[in-house]
Amino acid sequence: MTKKSRKSQYFQRAADAPNLPDTTFRFIYHFVSDFRWWYVIAVILEVIHATCGIMLPYAIGEIIRSVTRSPGASKSIFDAVSQPLMLFTALSVGEVIFGRAAGLLQTILHPIHRQHIVRSLYAYLQHHSHRYLSSTFAGSLAHRIGETSLGVTQTMQMLISEFMPVIIVYAVATMLLYRAYPPLAAFVGVWAVLFVSISFWLATRCRIYSRKAAAARSETTGIIVDAVTNLNSSRLFAQLGFERGYLKEQLRRELKEVRKSNWYSERIRWFQFISAAILKIGTLYYSLSLWSQGTIATADFVVATSLSLLIISEARNLSKRFLEFFEHIGNIANGVFTIVQPHEIIDRESAIAHSITQGQIEFRQVNFSYSLGKKVFDNLSITIQPGQRVGLVGFSGSGKSSFVNLILRLFDPQSGEILIDGVDIQDMTQDALHSQISLIPQDPSLFHRTLMENIRYGRLDATDEEVIEAAGKAYAHDFIAQIKEGYDSLVGERGIKLSGGQRQRIAIARVILKDAPILILDEATSSLDSITEKAIQDTLDSVMNGKTVIVVAHRLSTIADLDRILVFDQGRIVEDGTHPKLLARRGAYYRLWKMQAGGFLPVEAEPGEEKKLIKQGESNSYF
Ligand SMILES: Nc1ncnc2c1ncn2[C@@H]1O[C@H](COP(=O)(O)OP(=O)(O)OP(=O)(O)O)[C@@H](O)[C@H]1O
Ligand SMILES: [Mg+2]
Repeated sequence: MTKKSRKSQYFQRAADAPNLPDTTFRFIYHFVSDFRWWYVIAVILEVIHATCGIMLPYAIGEIIRSVTRSPGASKSIFDAVSQPLMLFTALSVGEVIFGRAAGLLQTILHPIHRQHIVRSLYAYLQHHSHRYLSSTFAGSLAHRIGETSLGVTQTMQMLISEFMPVIIVYAVATMLLYRAYPPLAAFVGVWAVLFVSISFWLATRCRIYSRKAAAARSETTGIIVDAVTNLNSSRLFAQLGFERGYLKEQLRRELKEVRKSNWYSERIRWFQFISAAILKIGTLYYSLSLWSQGTIATADFVVATSLSLLIISEARNLSKRFLEFFEHIGNIANGVFTIVQPHEIIDRESAIAHSITQGQIEFRQVNFSYSLGKKVFDNLSITIQPGQRVGLVGFSGSGKSSFVNLILRLFDPQSGEILIDGVDIQDMTQDALHSQISLIPQDPSLFHRTLMENIRYGRLDATDEEVIEAAGKAYAHDFIAQIKEGYDSLVGERGIKLSGGQRQRIAIARVILKDAPILILDEATSSLDSITEKAIQDTLDSVMNGKTVIVVAHRLSTIADLDRILVFDQGRIVEDGTHPKLLARRGAYYRLWKMQAGGFLPVEAEPGEEKKLIKQGESNSYF
């Protein structure tokens, strides 16, 4: 297969994401071929190891043959058997050395290989879109990366150290027996084929049961995790008893599935024990009768019986291994199916790291909907001038955050263009775009790292002093100084140990360090108390200086001073102007302002229009 044609089997992916195949076996092949020489050596070592092991009964047979050929003369017994004895010793030593060498190689190889897969999957995942990430559980993605990488190395280990030796043992054993007496080889050969086939068939049947049991187990885990996450709610609703009952019910369902799967495994064990007994007893009787008839020599009799014991020890748990094998393959399939999806938002091949000098933002006939059906923007066109500070207002769900999401290219519009300084943002690399736009979201999430690291995220090469200075400007320094470990304190998962307002101030500090030419604030100060908000306003004013700024706000007082206000209604911009100009218009903005300022509905509003606004804004407490 040429490199080109192989490439064409891959999905659409971001340019700097790894090229990963989307089917299980090609996925395994892809990663194994990255380490092919390691695996070739491992296979050679395992082949020699298994061959040494299975040749041991042959060496014993040769020793017996030599002994029976030269009876008596105990003095010369070692001379008589010296050659087969050397063979036996060499095989025993070989079995140990090659077996351990194979073991050592795999001990070194598998962790490295696994990490390589984790890195690739993680790098691939990093390029998935906002839409993808918000519709898949983060925990389950992390779990899948682990399971998939482990699946590949375990599959390879099974193939090399479990299945391949079994095949070699069966093949060599049949060959050795064939030399002694072909029908004996036929007996063992037929047994082996039947045993492997039936084991495989039983494993496929058992897989259904064990899959159901595994699903029931993970459902239980899910229920426990959900209940623990909501433990406070259960406590406050005095429903702890109900939750215990809820879990008990699930455990009962799980038990039913687990029992079924265990019973099936037990049936498989019966099959294995009976087959092993048939082989053991059958070979013994058969070779004994052949020996008594003089058809085979004593040595062959010993070889046949010890081979049958060796085969049994190799074949033990074969069904169980098949089962594990399927499980690993299933895990890989699951991970590949979930993670190796086409990337939704990718850089065009011609994309450049355009640098934003002016900060003009233009929407040109943009049509956008999150999914088929309801349109969020219908042919929206608007231009925000360089350095302009623009406030976006409108009811909940009117499209303000969507407007911002499109500028940040978290989603692509279905048609139309969004241009920054006259360049379509799809012609810019996402890295360039994102490094030149700062966002302070309503509910910033932080890494479970120290406060210092979290703030420095705005600019990784900032010194400690610069970080502290930024924190000071964002009014975060004082509360950080009061925490025991100060800037070295960890903030908990997603910053849970901080209050909403504290998190927002950390996010503001980050943005101060980042100092990007375009700044977007989506309800950035909504969690702050009025005094802190007022204090921080000065800082924000100086941060905004010389930048193009978009401020989404429900509290109109926070945007009244801006250069321009856009009023959104159902994805349309219904009013556009300065605060005094919009008030003078006595339109939607005026009514919103009156409602917030006075806390009552404006009497002079047109009855129809007012009703419409109130209906859309039912969930919004500000309006
Ligand atoms: N990720 C999403 N997937 C699907 N639909 C979405 C998504 N985000 C928003 N929407 C829908 O798009 C519309 C516009 O939502 P948007 O978040 O832009 O409103 P908003 O003006 O920011 O509201 P709010 O003031 O409550 O933040 C709404 O109908 C909303 O339900
Ligand atoms: Mg919003």
